[in-house]
Amino acid sequence: MRRYIVAGNWKMHTTLTEATDLATGLRERISGYSDIERVLIPPYPWILPVRDAIAGTDIHIGAQNCYTEPSGAFTGEVSAEMLSAHCSYIIVGHSERRHTIGETNDLIASKVSAVLRAGPRVILCVGETLEEREAGRAERVVSEQVKSALAGRSEQDLDRVVIAYEPVWAIGTGVAASAADAQEMCAFVRSLVDDLFSNYVAGSLRVQYGGSVKGSNSEELLSQPDIDGALVGGASLDADEFAAIVRSASAQVN
Ligand code: PGA
Repeated sequence: MRRYIVAGNWKMHTTLTEATDLATGLRERISGYSDIERVLIPPYPWILPVRDAIAGTDIHIGAQNCYTEPSGAFTGEVSAEMLSAHCSYIIVGHSERRHTIGETNDLIASKVSAVLRAGPRVILCVGETLEEREAGRAERVVSEQVKSALAGRSEQDLDRVVIAYEPVWAIGTGVAASAADAQEMCAFVRSLVDDLFSNYVAGSLRVQYGGSVKGSNSEELLSQPDIDGALVGGASLDADEFAAIVRSASAQVN
């Protein structure tokens, strides 16, 4: 049975005080849900204070990005090795990095290698834009993103990969994909991993849905057979909303 994973990507939000208050509020609300893997992904500078605020719980810390190299003259970059001191997950290929910052599939593949080399787990984000979906190219785009990031890796590597299917048109818009559409694409992602690796690897892979997940739609999304969790942006900044999403995940297994 795949363990649900609910991760909150705080993006470039929160002051230091807001971050520690949020972490403290989440500690009260979600530390009891050990049946669900819970991950808080604050901006880099708040990783340590958030870690301190949740110390003694089994809530994980993640990072939103990393660089490809372990160390060196790369001003402003942060390596997966450095992050591995505190983070058990690193997001790679978020749509804002693909589309706002301009990261390519090749760069994202190198970052996946960096995370696997350094030790944390990868949350690999994939998803099509509205234009691509309307042109009937959603599956082709997602297939290229998955294959370029994962082809040629070992089955053991795949143990440390979570894939987040996040249609770009649903991110931050308040309009999530329908549960049926989200299920169809998450099942498609799993089928790609089946083709690339094996039925066993595909069956063990955790696939999250992301894009306007909130307390009011999480139960329907998380009850789909191929959706094993949520990558949450906006709603992860509200402790009550995030806790509601964790509860929806827990309700699936209890
Ligand atoms: P959202 O963001 O929940 O605000 O739509 C999701 C994400 O970017 O991972």
